[in-house]
Amino acid sequence: MASPLAAALLLSSQAALPPAPVAVVPRPVRLERGEGTFVLGPATRLRADASLRRTAELLQEELRRATGWPFPLLDGAARAVPASPEIRLRIDRSLASLGPEGYRLTSTPRGVEIAAPAAAGAFYGVQTLRQLLPPQLFRRAVTPGVRWEVPAVRVEDRPRFSWRGSHLDVARHFMPKRAVLDHIDLMALHKLNVFHWHLTDDQGWRLEIRKYPRLVEVGSRRRESQLGRDEEKGDGTPHGGFYTQDDVREVVRYAAERFVTVVPEIEMPGHAQAILAAYPDLGNTPAPVEVWTRWGISERVLSVDDRTIAFLTDVLAEVVDLFPSPFVHVGGDEVPPREWNESPAARARMRETGARDAEELHSWLMGRVGAFLASKGRRLVGWDEILDGGPAVPGAVVMSWRRAKSGLDAVRAGHDVVMAPMSHTYLDYYQSKEPGEPLAIGGFLPLETVYAFEPVPPELEGGDRASCVLGAQAQLWTEFMATPEAVQYMAWPRLAALAEVVWSPREARDLADFRARLAPHLARLDALGVSYRG
Ligand code: ACM
Repeated sequence: MASPLAAALLLSSQAALPPAPVAVVPRPVRLERGEGTFVLGPATRLRADASLRRTAELLQEELRRATGWPFPLLDGAARAVPASPEIRLRIDRSLASLGPEGYRLTSTPRGVEIAAPAAAGAFYGVQTLRQLLPPQLFRRAVTPGVRWEVPAVRVEDRPRFSWRGSHLDVARHFMPKRAVLDHIDLMALHKLNVFHWHLTDDQGWRLEIRKYPRLVEVGSRRRESQLGRDEEKGDGTPHGGFYTQDDVREVVRYAAERFVTVVPEIEMPGHAQAILAAYPDLGNTPAPVEVWTRWGISERVLSVDDRTIAFLTDVLAEVVDLFPSPFVHVGGDEVPPREWNESPAARARMRETGARDAEELHSWLMGRVGAFLASKGRRLVGWDEILDGGPAVPGAVVMSWRRAKSGLDAVRAGHDVVMAPMSHTYLDYYQSKEPGEPLAIGGFLPLETVYAFEPVPPELEGGDRASCVLGAQAQLWTEFMATPEAVQYMAWPRLAALAEVVWSPREARDLADFRARLAPHLARLDALGVSYRG
């Protein structure tokens, strides 16, 4: 038996401390604890292959800011200094079986190595490393007295789905560019990789288009907004904002450095009243409209005239120049048929195209737009109404929001789908029934329900069509979120639960385990200053 002194020494030594909790969100495929920890210090270096340099620089910036140490960055090919502690990022093609986004992270008391078959995987390895470090890493200045250690682990990880999305509506309430960049940072930390930017709607047009300056001059401002849920009342306060093309290029590039694809959404032919306020000629009736000041679905929709189609293709031509995403979202949801049914021009178009009703005419329009996008090498994405008027555009991706069944129908019709059902992914719904929640659109979607979401419908399970489910995403519609803080309150931590749904293996899903990891994870969001719902 050890003497009392030896026991006391043992207790105070590093080895006797309980291992620091390891709480990675989303949960990695495999994580094994090793012995001891790697302790960072003033001499710790970074080393990265040339193709991983930007990822290493992002890590370097954060480590410097948090620790005050220099973390010199060496080229991967440079000779290692024996016994010098290192965090190393490298490409290892022999890990190809992990897929383009997979990685292996190994930390020992001597250092950290992140190896991946491709750059995206190395980036995700770094996201895991950030979560293995103390949460003070996420503060914007040095926190004194922190022991910067990484527990010894071996992680092998890869995502379940390739589309791990977060949608943000900046039309109902404009979100400043700074908030968009912050949101992309948070997405990356949670290994989410598709930012669906809902840029246009009845209540505002947010994207500078060179050929049609009135879209932002007129379309980006509204006189007032609906006050609460009462359609009769306005708040009397003008609201507006838009992104210049330089803003967009900045956001796209910032996102790309974080392996996030920005998918723009340009709504058509409904949810388009802001366009009609700017260019009344594109509508079905000459009656003027203003940028809408109420929530809901405007009855005023775009016409299907040649000049409207020319306008749409002109706009999309600028959009594809700005956004390198292989996918362009054109909305297509909630198109009230009344104006087309009453318009002689729309009825003539129906006769000419053989469309029997407004739904089929909608399909025809989507076909025209989809063909234009295809000519630019892009795929059309649309909400699931694009299937209502018969076969949708070949190669279109269907975003299934109304029911899980619409996703299944789309897959059976030969489409790839992204699951975005209201039942599990609409983060504008209330997250609690407790009194005191901020006013929301309605519904009830607690964290557990998001966490329980299964993107692959049971009918597809195990079959070859399961791979047509590209993934899933959460929606943030902002009628009732006027500020970036309000968005964060609704997004987090539910978006962390969604991240686990789309990244982690289905069989690893365990709510109690997620909750246990969420507690230390929230300390990271605290350090970042995120106004999540605690
Ligand atoms: C939608 O919520 N209208 C896609």
